[in-house]
Amino acid sequence: MREEKEKLYYVQNIPVPETPRPTHTPSAWKETKIIGKRLPRVDAYERVSGSAIYPSDISLQDMLYGAILRCPHAHAKVLSIDTREAEKIPGVRVVITGNTPGAALDWPYLRGFKTKLFDPHCRHEGEEIAALAAETPYQAWDAIKAIKVKYEILPFVVDELKALDAGAPAIHQEGNLSGETQGYERGDVEKGFAEADVVLEESYRTESELHTPMELHGCVAKWDGDRLTVWESTQGVYAVQARIAEVLGLPLANVRIIGHYMGGGFGSKLQAGKYSIIAALLAKKTAQPVKLFLTREETFLCVGNRPPSNMKLKAGVKKDGTLTAFEFSCIGTGGAYPAGGTSLVDWQIRDLYKCPNVRTKMTDVFINAGPSRPCRAPGHPQGSWALEQMLDALAEAIKMDPVELRLKNISPYSQAREGNPPYTTTGLKECLEEGARAFGWEEGRRKTAETKKSGHIRRGVGMASCLWFAGGGGPPSTVIIKLFSDGSVNLNMGASDIGTGTKTVMAMVVSEELGVPMEKIQIEHADTGTTQYATPSGGSKTVPTESPAVRAAAVEVKRQLFELASKDLKVNVTDLILKDGEVISKQDPSKKIKIAEVPDLKRRGVLLGVGYRGPNPEGKVVNPFAAQFCEVEVNTKTGEVKILRFLSANDSGRVMNRLTYDNQVIGGITWGIGLAMTETRILDEKQTGKMVNRNWHDYKLPTALDVPMEVKSLPIELDDPQANTTGAKGLGEPVTIPTAAAIANAVYHATGIRVTMTPINPIKLCQLFSQRGKEG
Ligand code: MOS
Repeated sequence: MREEKEKLYYVQNIPVPETPRPTHTPSAWKETKIIGKRLPRVDAYERVSGSAIYPSDISLQDMLYGAILRCPHAHAKVLSIDTREAEKIPGVRVVITGNTPGAALDWPYLRGFKTKLFDPHCRHEGEEIAALAAETPYQAWDAIKAIKVKYEILPFVVDELKALDAGAPAIHQEGNLSGETQGYERGDVEKGFAEADVVLEESYRTESELHTPMELHGCVAKWDGDRLTVWESTQGVYAVQARIAEVLGLPLANVRIIGHYMGGGFGSKLQAGKYSIIAALLAKKTAQPVKLFLTREETFLCVGNRPPSNMKLKAGVKKDGTLTAFEFSCIGTGGAYPAGGTSLVDWQIRDLYKCPNVRTKMTDVFINAGPSRPCRAPGHPQGSWALEQMLDALAEAIKMDPVELRLKNISPYSQAREGNPPYTTTGLKECLEEGARAFGWEEGRRKTAETKKSGHIRRGVGMASCLWFAGGGGPPSTVIIKLFSDGSVNLNMGASDIGTGTKTVMAMVVSEELGVPMEKIQIEHADTGTTQYATPSGGSKTVPTESPAVRAAAVEVKRQLFELASKDLKVNVTDLILKDGEVISKQDPSKKIKIAEVPDLKRRGVLLGVGYRGPNPEGKVVNPFAAQFCEVEVNTKTGEVKILRFLSANDSGRVMNRLTYDNQVIGGITWGIGLAMTETRILDEKQTGKMVNRNWHDYKLPTALDVPMEVKSLPIELDDPQANTTGAKGLGEPVTIPTAAAIANAVYHATGIRVTMTPINPIKLCQLFSQRGKEG
């Protein structure tokens, strides 16, 4: 099933019978000493001082620099490539094209679709045509310019609403429909609308956003005989290993991926890129290490985006706030290849609010643009933009408070899943109630309403809520903890720390269980050669997936330590506890021994505990929930919008580290501000089909001036002991899902103007104000 395959990265609760279960399942923490604290990152100094070595910092002896020639046209066929001039440029070691032996490789997309690594039919600007390696990056780029290509330029289509028109240029032989139209239905939608007191219908659109992480996409590749080592900026070393081994036809064991630090991915680095394969090929041909990092421009074109969504939502509600029906459709595009252009856009509509009658339809089409990739909560912010604005409008129509309307429609079980399985915990009610209270919702609504009567500076407050359809994590994950004879600890796990503080949180779990101070814990991670198996860090599942495995490993080490110490102390193992580096008898606290002085541990040198991530509870769903509130100020003369304050109430289970938790909240809201107000991929529809804002100057990311000084994080602390043994759920994605809609609702409250298309910027607002002026 297509959907199932796409979901793989986010939901890891796939039965993995071969994964051993934890030998001892610890019960939920009652009180914690370390967990939940506001602790700085274990690698904070390395990160801020510049001493952390990111893949883009790697420099090896005899290293060459790779570069890729990319198609400058939106749609073209390569007729011929002449590399002779390029080969003569000083320092150039090798030039490869699709005709080079060993380089005629397949490149996989979703649903088993394959293209070529260097495909002569270039379906988007930036498609790979040739590559080379030279002694310096400057020589490499000079040589790229010297490659002569003859193109047959083809007509293009970059507007997803026109891709299915008769006469639109066909991007693939089979036409421009990407897979089947996806549909979902429950209940009787027509009957639902008939029962409603109010039925509203509206069109919404969100623009395509780029991930554009700080660290560019790329890697350094090096061969030792037939073993390949790749230092890659990635969210998942094992996923990169699998893709490279598959494409190059190598045994997994021959591919070592190292990804210690990485400068952001947001879904765009869940997999190897074509650049990873190209770097490996160039290194193989030259027998030298090759560094191949993309330029910022290349990353705008070729390594993913959040797809644009053109949505229609019709909704019915009774006067008492009962939702009777939703009908939703979306036309989206994953670009020129099957890449999930409408993935999960309807999930909020299907599952968030109680509604018996729901129908959705999603049409994913091809356009001549770079393929999309999963992007921080794939599909969800788009669906939320439509649904949460609709809820706001419905509330107004039935004269009900927007928070009240949402509170009336909370579902304790998942409506969209087979058999309606209950959630382990549903903190949506608490998010709404406690969030509204902490924000000062009612007072804020009242006060800002008064500003509307006079002047051109209008204030408004708005809110939106969400769930994230994953965020529970699950198997597989294996972790090893070594307790050394001096009481220091080494934690070995395969997961990447994508900037969220994973290493710090895992060290805290070890410290909590073993009573070892944070500074005595070292972490080996994200290396397929030396660390344990982990799925990519994504889907807001890293903490709920890895922390129970880490805890299981720590509990196992503790069990072994108690066994050794019980002989020395001559007490039963069940009578022992660990405290501040000492094993102590509960009954007789005078009986104690320092970890470092346990004779058998000294003799052995190390105790080794293996921990596995056990399965999730059967028949239940683990999802995080959130509600966000904001206040905006709109200048109705200039169209400027200032966000004055924001509050995010989150049910993400147990708070593991309050500092990294709050960091996620601020980051997610910043992303939502980008979607709502500033970010748009602009393709030149008329002349060239090319992207015109492919840099950080023309593509506007929110900066410190766009983000309010006051961003409050309010964790609803619902420890979720059913979910897993640390009680944590995901956070990184739910914090960005409702943000854009909350802003739109606040702008509506301030001005009476409903902005249904992102971005909410001065140009658009001024147009809407003047339109309203004309309409009177
Ligand atoms: Mo996330 S879009 O699964 O990195």
